[in-house]
Amino acid sequence: MREINIITIDGPASSGKTTVARMLAQKLSIPLLESGSLYRLVTYFLVNSGEPLNSYLEDKQALLQFLREVFKETKIEITPSGTSIYWNGKLIKEELRSKEVEDTVSQVSAIKEVREFLTEFMRSIGEKNKLIAEGRDMGSIVFPYSDVKIFLTADEKIRAERRFKEKAEKEKIDKKSLYKEVWDNIKFRDKLDSQRKVAPLTIPDGAYIIDTSSLISEEVMNEILKIIESKNREK
Ligand code: DC
Repeated sequence: MREINIITIDGPASSGKTTVARMLAQKLSIPLLESGSLYRLVTYFLVNSGEPLNSYLEDKQALLQFLREVFKETKIEITPSGTSIYWNGKLIKEELRSKEVEDTVSQVSAIKEVREFLTEFMRSIGEKNKLIAEGRDMGSIVFPYSDVKIFLTADEKIRAERRFKEKAEKEKIDKKSLYKEVWDNIKFRDKLDSQRKVAPLTIPDGAYIIDTSSLISEEVMNEILKIIESKNREK
């Protein structure tokens, strides 16, 4: 019987990764590493650093120095409910969803030095814990040796509708312009995520692809459980 230590779940925005990864983590009682939160965190730090982002793009040594400094005061807690981040003892949560972070995170995630820094950071977490790691490059770059690799996809119209529904509940703006905003954002993020030079969104070698377009989250989770069971039976 094979021991499963790391399960990776990758896929584009609104493919259902986060919900499914959390359900699975709770079902299996395995800590969930939400890698997007770390990219959001770095973005939050950078946009609030008092320096324009461009200055860090021009001086990568300063960028690395900055990351090392802020991460000294950063504590990450991973549980089956997800990833919580504390900076100087304060929980950083809503800040990661702010508009300034949403607008800048794709740009920050394309910076090679940021990716290398976070990749190393995440690997060190993976050395100490069983993990479900969810993101864009978990199975391809960060944990290429993971035991089970899942790649979720869904038709882009369905992904836009999912995101629209989520946002329409929270935001009281005209539905037509909200849908257009969501649609443009999905197209824009897909393009940036899959065309960036460093660690673009890609199907990892050996990944099981699940199209979630017509599935509810429970069905996706059950598919993944079946895959894990079959892996478990491998010698
Ligand atoms: O999954 P999310 O929406 O929280 O991700 C936020 C951003 O971070 C998204 O624009 C893609 C980027 N990201 C990444 O480049 N690599 C990852 N492993 C996870 C997220």
